[in-house]
Amino acid sequence: MNIILLGPPGSGKGTQALRLVQALDMVQLSTGDMLRAARKSGTDIGKTVAAVMDRGDLVTDDIVISLIRERLTGDLPAGGAILDGFPRTLAQADALGALLDGIGMTLDRVIEMKVDDEALVRRVTGRFTCSDCGAVYHDDTHRTQTEGICDVCGGRRFTRRGDDNEESFRIRLLAYYRETAPLIGYYHALGKLRPVNGSADIDGVSAEIREALEEGVSS
Ligand code: AP5
Ligand code: MG
Ligand code: ZN
Repeated sequence: MNIILLGPPGSGKGTQALRLVQALDMVQLSTGDMLRAARKSGTDIGKTVAAVMDRGDLVTDDIVISLIRERLTGDLPAGGAILDGFPRTLAQADALGALLDGIGMTLDRVIEMKVDDEALVRRVTGRFTCSDCGAVYHDDTHRTQTEGICDVCGGRRFTRRGDDNEESFRIRLLAYYRETAPLIGYYHALGKLRPVNGSADIDGVSAEIREALEEGVSS
């Protein structure tokens, strides 16, 4: 099964993708993570996108489409792919459709994660991530079980993102409403959209997503 997790910054796409990977033998394809990896390794793409990302703007369609094409045309696990943070524009959605057609794959579900804006800002400004395995935590709502030690891999190094401040968040949210929210109608029209309440606790959101993946597409 191939799915998209669609939602504003901080809506829980990364958190839920990690759980699906663990439960269903799927792979997480996060364009945000790919771009951050490109920055860390100092590639040309990484240098091009650094300031754009920190500001909270979208990087160009060409760059993210080429990153996704490379991953989707490589080996994928039996469970399929979770697209996290891609597509984010109508041009990216069209490119994804053409790419999947070209390699004989289907898009099965689009999960829309709905969360209030003010809850989102609290989520991103309190977020930290394990530097070793990428597990996502939060200062108030999801701390590590043992202070300073990652629950998943035992790592002791954590990072905070350059765009997880209120100013960049507001720009990311605006980009979401301007460029990405139109995809809700687009995938609804294709009968693939499944909205979930992203404001529930993390286990509650996971349960709703699993239900949405199990039921037939009928809308
Ligand atoms: P990206 O990395 O995709 O960032 P984003 O979309 O802004 O989303 P986030 O990663 O901030 O949030 P999330 O939904 O994954 O939430 P998380 O699970 O971490 O993109 C970054 C940048 O890269 C973009 O701004 C752009 O510049 C560029 N980019 C990427 N893709 C692009 C594309 N396709 N086109 C163009 N540019 C692109 O959770 C957040 C926090 O909340 C965590 O602390 C977590 O512990 C907590 N939390 C999660 N769920 C819950 C819950 N249910 N209850 C309470 N707390 C929760
Ligand atoms: Mg994320
Ligand atoms: Zn870890």
